[in-house]
This record gives sequence, C-alpha cells and structure tokens, in this order.
Amino acid sequence: MITRRAFARHVGGVVSAMPWAGEAFLAHRAMARVVPRSGMISLDSNENPAGPFPAALEAIKQGAADTARYHFEEFGAFAERLARSEDLKPDQVLFGVGSSEILSAAICAFTSAALPMITAVPTFEIPMEFARSLGHKTIEIPLTGSWAFPVKRLAQEADRAGGGLIYLSNPNNPTSSLTPNADLAWLASNLPANTVLLVDEAYIQFTDPSRVTSALDYVRRNQNVVVTRTFSKIYGMAGARVGFGCGRPDLVRSILTFKDNVIPILGLRAATAALGEAAIIVPKRRAEMTRIRGELCSWLREKGVSYIEPHANFLMIDIRRDVRSFGPAMFRKGVAVGRPFPPLDQMLRVTIGTDQEMARFRETFWQVYSA
Ligand SMILES: Cc1ncc(COP(=O)(O)O)c(C=O)c1O
Repeated sequence: MITRRAFARHVGGVVSAMPWAGEAFLAHRAMARVVPRSGMISLDSNENPAGPFPAALEAIKQGAADTARYHFEEFGAFAERLARSEDLKPDQVLFGVGSSEILSAAICAFTSAALPMITAVPTFEIPMEFARSLGHKTIEIPLTGSWAFPVKRLAQEADRAGGGLIYLSNPNNPTSSLTPNADLAWLASNLPANTVLLVDEAYIQFTDPSRVTSALDYVRRNQNVVVTRTFSKIYGMAGARVGFGCGRPDLVRSILTFKDNVIPILGLRAATAALGEAAIIVPKRRAEMTRIRGELCSWLREKGVSYIEPHANFLMIDIRRDVRSFGPAMFRKGVAVGRPFPPLDQMLRVTIGTDQEMARFRETFWQVYSA
C-alpha cells in the first residue's frame, strides 16, 4: 500500500491557494470526445461499460415519442418510487439532472460568502469548483493517512466558521477509499451548529455491503445529513442524467429552492424501470466489477506496482512518474485514463472496464510504464 508522507508534505495549507492543474488534460480528453477515434477505450470517467439494465433500455425505446411533453404528472410517482427504494418518505427525496444538479443546488442552499463549503482533498473537484465560482467560501484540508475524510478536523473547521456544508464522498473519488463507518457515525452525530453534512454516495453500490454503512441511516434518523445517489454509475446510465438526494424534509425544501425538479422523461422512465431490476442486477454487477478489479490488482502486485486499496469501480495506481505525461501517452495509444488529481501528481486513476478493455489497459500501461 502507498504511504502518503510526501502527500501530507504537499497538501498542508497550500492546496486552497493552488490552481487545479488538470485543465490541459481535461481539454485533451474533451477533444477526443468531440472527435471520437475508432478503437479508443474510455477508462477515464468512471462510467459503467455494462450500460443500462434491460428494462431501462426498453423504457427508453418505448418512450421516445413521449419526449414531446414534460410529463409533470409522472414526477410525483417517481419521488414516491425513489423514496420506497430507500425506505424513506416522498418528502425526504428530490431528484435531479444527475446527482450533479443536487450537489450544485445544495451548495447554493447551504453555503455563501460567509458559510463555507468544507472538504478534504483530493476528492471529486466539481462541487468545490462550483462553490468557488459562486464566490462562496471554501475550506480544504488533506485526507487522512488511510485516505479517509478526517471527520474531527472537518467538524472543527465547521465549528470555527460558524457552520457550512461538509462534503464527503464515500467511497471517495478519486482514491476509491472508504471513510470508516464509525467516523461517519461520529460526524453525523457531532455536527456543529448550522452545519449540514453532504455524503456523496455515487459509487456506494460498488462497495462490499459488509464494509460500508450508507449515510441514509442518518437521514432516516432525521440528522442534519443529505445523501446523494446517481443512476450514472452502477446503473450504467450516465447519459440519461438522473440522480437524487435524500434528507430531512426541511433540508430537501431548502435544496429545492435552487432547482426545478424537472428531469428528462426518458431518464425518469429508465430509472423507474431499473429500480424494478435492482435487487437482482446490482449485486451481479458489483460481483463482476469486483472480479475484474481484483484481477487488475493481482497483476499490479505481480509487477511490483502499488495502488490504493479500492472500494469502487476505479483504482488509483502509483505510477512513480508525472501523470501529466503518462496519461497523454496512454491516450495516444488509444486508452483514455483519468485526469490528474493534484497533489497526487504521480497517481493514475483508471476506471474498471470489461475484461477485454482491462487486457488492453494492462498491455498499454506496461508499454508506457516500462518505456
Ligand atoms: C463522486 C461523484 N459524485 C457525483 C458525480 C456526478 O455524477 P452524475 O451527475 O452523473 O450523477 C460524479 C461523477 O463522476 C462523481 O464522481
């Protein structure tokens, strides 16, 4: 496993002043998306190569002509269906155009120029960038030595600031690591006044259920906690753009102030259909991804390459050289991999794809690594 002494040296205090250095790489990837090259494989965005569930695909095919209208009349039933799937009441859920929309609306609701957005890095950077773009206050501290969110320090920062929104991704993107259940339970029960904890569970269905407790438990107990979930990852519907948030009714109402609660009708229908198959397909997909990821980990160990122990459908590999040249070198050979996540400048994030894609990844990775 990876020690992170160097990481700690880099992070303390300087991250908030450091520009995110991944722009060129992001632009590079965006170009590739605009002009797709034949045979290119995408292991860069933590998507799911299995795609939509069969019933979801059928709902999309059947519903094409219904895109003529908004279908507001279906939205209430969708909220009820989502609530039932998580053992909540309809007024404890809201849905959005991907979970991204819920994250953005929550940032609008619970942060300001005075009330900060607080997180530990590296993590999914878009929410912090959004808060910054609004001119809202942001606070970043480093993850712990075992790549968990340092819950006591997050609470201290919120206390010092007089409240705010704590963002915690579990499992975390990009490190694929978990924050221990006991730490999360402590934070949910020890939030300073005026503080909301937002737990982003975009990848939680990929995690061994015996290792993780969903923060939905704290929502059910009416704590100051909001949980976001998405149909983009294990459900394989990133392009359908459906996500949802869960929280106490008053928190849900605050977030709803900043969004219209309208999503594409085909996404709504596909998500509804997918929920009907979830009990069978979600565990199967988790098992399949875990097998493929395990094979990659074994191969890396054989090659003497270290990585962070993964709990989601992606893996952070210690490449011991600058990812800013390694990523583009892989890209030129037809394998798109994750963007840089400063300050982990020598780590490469790879999404777990199909067996064939991972065979191609291994071959290309080794060519670039041993060059
Ligand atoms: C941690 C995390 N949260 C949220 C999202 C946003 O997903 P979506 O808007 O597709 O639901 C992503 C996307 O990759 C992510 O990595």
